[in-house]
Amino acid sequence: MSRKVIAIIGSPRKGRTFEAVGMFEKRLKELGNIDFEYVFLKDVSLKECRGCGLCLEKGEEFCPLEDNRADIFARMMKADGVIFATPVYSLQVTALLKNLLDRLAYVFHRPCFFHKSFMAVVTQGIYGVEGVLKYLDEVAHFWGFKVCPGLGLTVFWEKPSAADLKKIDDEAEKAAKRFYDSLTRNSDPVPSLKEVIMFRSVRAFHSIAAGFPRDHQYYREQGWLDSDYYYETRLGWHKKLAGRWVERQALKQAMRDKMKLVESRLS
Ligand SMILES: Cc1cc2nc3c(=O)[nH]c(=O)nc-3n(C[C@H](O)[C@H](O)[C@H](O)COP(=O)(O)O)c2cc1C
Repeated sequence: MSRKVIAIIGSPRKGRTFEAVGMFEKRLKELGNIDFEYVFLKDVSLKECRGCGLCLEKGEEFCPLEDNRADIFARMMKADGVIFATPVYSLQVTALLKNLLDRLAYVFHRPCFFHKSFMAVVTQGIYGVEGVLKYLDEVAHFWGFKVCPGLGLTVFWEKPSAADLKKIDDEAEKAAKRFYDSLTRNSDPVPSLKEVIMFRSVRAFHSIAAGFPRDHQYYREQGWLDSDYYYETRLGWHKKLAGRWVERQALKQAMRDKMKLVESRLS
């Protein structure tokens, strides 16, 4: 059985980050049947978010920008695994990658990448890789991915030496194994207490349509308005109990917010 992996490259050049992903790809393909495709953000049309919020409020299909955003999203949805690869730029991801994250920000509201694996590949000159890996893992986690610990590398700007290449290859090999394990594991991770609490408090707002109407509709369509979590899982009694309590508090707050909104519209 072949697994589809898509690597989204956030560097404005085909440099060290691209090479690192290439080594990762080679090692991954040694482990099994992998169909590996690339998206170079430098080569696709992706306009900057204008902040209209229509994707959040009404749905991503209402985004007024005409470019390749929907195509990239569709390709990510077809994949079993997604790689975000970026050099550290000023302690963050590149603007190219950040722009993609902003253009897909509606996924924070309507997560959709469940059962798919994610890994970040980040290169740095000196400092910042840990923070960027943490940031990308958090984004992917919110979006529903099964997050694998990422591949962080310190590389020279110019062509690396043979000894450096060997070190990178060793790290790429380890990362490929982690990613392959995740790709081939059929089970989803059991959510932590914090994740259950997050799910229940967000759901509380959507259940009474206190937030955006599109999110309420999405939660209803997914069956999340009365599920234990985003996907089938076995929760211990303490997680269920804590989740129920938090949701009740969040519901009270959501009702108060909704009343305030109605009052402000009437006055
Ligand atoms: C504009 C710019 C900003 C950078 N900022 C950082 C930084 O904050 N920390 C760091 O360690 N390296 C920084 N670097 C170095 C790159 O992260 C590093 O050289 C990376 O491997 C380049 O990847 P690439 O060859 O795919 O472009 C920066 C490089 C550029 C061009």
